[in-house]
Amino acid sequence: MKFRVIGSAADQARVGELNTGHGLVRTPAFMPVGTRGTVKGVFPRDLLDLGAQVILCNTYHLLLRPGIDLLRDLGGLHRFLGWPGAILTDSGGYQVFSLSSLRRVDDHGVVFRSHLDGSPLFLSPELAVEFQLIAGSDLIMSLDECPPWPASPSELDQAVRRTVLWAARGKEAWERLQDSHASFPTPEAGLFGIVQGGGDARLRALCAEELGAIGFDGFAIGGVSVGEPPEEGLRAVAETVVHLDPARPRYVMGVGEPWQMVEMVNLGVDLFDCVLPTRLARHGVAYTGMGRISLRNSSFRLDPAPISSECGCYTCRNFSRAYLRHLLKSEEILGLMLLTLHNLYFYLCLMKEMRTALERGCWEAFLAEKRKRREEFEE
Ligand code: GUN
Ligand code: ZN
Repeated sequence: MKFRVIGSAADQARVGELNTGHGLVRTPAFMPVGTRGTVKGVFPRDLLDLGAQVILCNTYHLLLRPGIDLLRDLGGLHRFLGWPGAILTDSGGYQVFSLSSLRRVDDHGVVFRSHLDGSPLFLSPELAVEFQLIAGSDLIMSLDECPPWPASPSELDQAVRRTVLWAARGKEAWERLQDSHASFPTPEAGLFGIVQGGGDARLRALCAEELGAIGFDGFAIGGVSVGEPPEEGLRAVAETVVHLDPARPRYVMGVGEPWQMVEMVNLGVDLFDCVLPTRLARHGVAYTGMGRISLRNSSFRLDPAPISSECGCYTCRNFSRAYLRHLLKSEEILGLMLLTLHNLYFYLCLMKEMRTALERGCWEAFLAEKRKRREEFEE
């Protein structure tokens, strides 16, 4: 994996290229979420048409089902999924947070209780890296501990200490396996460290510096989007980014709303993933330049207009709000698929607009326009 910054604004926001074993990823980039090996309701063919260059899958879910032996025997994730683009795999660290009743954590690693059948699954920092290599991931995440927000100072201390310890052990495993990298499905994979530290700027800085000293191909900022007020998440990202090597890609995990991505790109973030566009679509909610709308709303019953007249997606070019509302009301699968397609188009378009603004040197004007729109429509 190779990363190159092509241009930047005010020494922060930047446009770049991430070269992976499965193609080029132009940054800032949004990664649609395919937790269980599918971006729900979208053909991989359509993801390509939308311009998605990288998707996210979850190590934890895929380890439980279909399991690592199957993934290895069938030639790795890309072949199994029929997805030729890049894949970033999350390590399982987030499930330490999201499935907190189903796990036990100590310095050795995490014992999960399968949410499927209750059987135990042990994940160490070494195993997390090895499993992701076997799966053929392009962008591999270190195992981390993601504390809730708010967390006590001692919880935060502990999570950072453990996250750094695990990152170092994952890196050692990565190097130990280096000779066999050629035998994995994606020999050019990159390894990321994840910064934790909650809302504590000093801890964030410490974690970032220590991960920097260990040395990674990229850096993720974790522990945001875990229930904090959005401005505090933004502040945590701002306080972390300045301690990260500008030559490496920066990824904020699990973020976010469109405005949050704009603000974080402004701080120098390159990569995002979030379930919002796909999950909200399945609840009948669509993004527009004027905020979200709920297509189930009776006001759309006779509405011949598309979701957004500004949108060029397949859904908006062909279908009315009235038809989409009808599909949702009738619980037809197509309704969810068409909304998902529109929302992903919206997200991917926003990333493209940001890249273009950065390339053309008009970031400040772009940012001002987005902030003005946000005040008008989203508040
Ligand atoms: N996804 C969202 N937040 C996090 C985090 O803090 N750690 C990991 N591993 N994944 C995440
Ligand atoms: Zn559309």
